[in-house]
Amino acid sequence: NADAESVQKHHDVLDVAHRGASGYAPEHTLTSYHMGDKMHGDYIEIDLQMTKDGKLIAMHDETVDRTTNGTGKVKDFTLKQIKQLDAGSWFNEKYPQYAKPMYKGLKVPTLEEIFKTFGKNKNYYIETKSPDVYPGMEEKLLHLINQYHINKDTLLVQSFSKDSLLKVHKLDPSLKLIQLLEYKEHAVLTDQDLNSYKQYAAGIGPNFNYLDKAYVQKAVRSGLEIHPYTVNETTDMKRLMDWGVTGMFTNFPDRLHQMIKKN
Ligand code: G3P
Ligand code: CA
Repeated sequence: NADAESVQKHHDVLDVAHRGASGYAPEHTLTSYHMGDKMHGDYIEIDLQMTKDGKLIAMHDETVDRTTNGTGKVKDFTLKQIKQLDAGSWFNEKYPQYAKPMYKGLKVPTLEEIFKTFGKNKNYYIETKSPDVYPGMEEKLLHLINQYHINKDTLLVQSFSKDSLLKVHKLDPSLKLIQLLEYKEHAVLTDQDLNSYKQYAAGIGPNFNYLDKAYVQKAVRSGLEIHPYTVNETTDMKRLMDWGVTGMFTNFPDRLHQMIKKN
């Protein structure tokens, strides 16, 4: 029937290791990304910020406060200064049940180091964060993608900023884009929304908690990918898979892997 046809088969669900396997290791470190790989994550999710001297680094927040032993805005640090920070000890303090001595002193990676470490055929899912704070970040991202010959068939570029995605699209129309969305209440997808996203994006990435089956199926039937974030509990993973999502961001890629295998 139409319902069954329209929903994605479970084994096609993409397992996106959100900030790496960030449930188990300090987010956005090479260690966390490696762990995501070992846990069968299909994609490494990377948030980008930019240093004072114009280097793209992997970090979620605009400040270094939460995920390093430093304080201040990323844009006020040179890369050399960023490299002096400890990006692991905070995790050991916050999550003693997952703490490991080796996390102490981990460094903030640059996007360039990530590409060098994991190579051109890894699946990267890269977010332009705070693009208004970092003019030129899209150009720098494209430059590195081309310099390291990153496989564009599996690369996904995501942003909450439509403007940033349109910039990326203009620079390289072959890149697949995901429009991130943040709902504060029950999520509704109008035909107008759908048509607008389909102009430039291959899919959407909404926060998962306000979605329902109708929303998910409307997106899938229209041909858009739908990758909700950030889904860490297996009961939520199961429900979203039953509704037909085509992927999920999770801090626990091993849990999602098990769920995909079972279903
Ligand atoms: O990129 C998907 C999800 O990570 C968006 O939220 O704040 O975790 O980057 P955030
Ligand atoms: Ca993100």
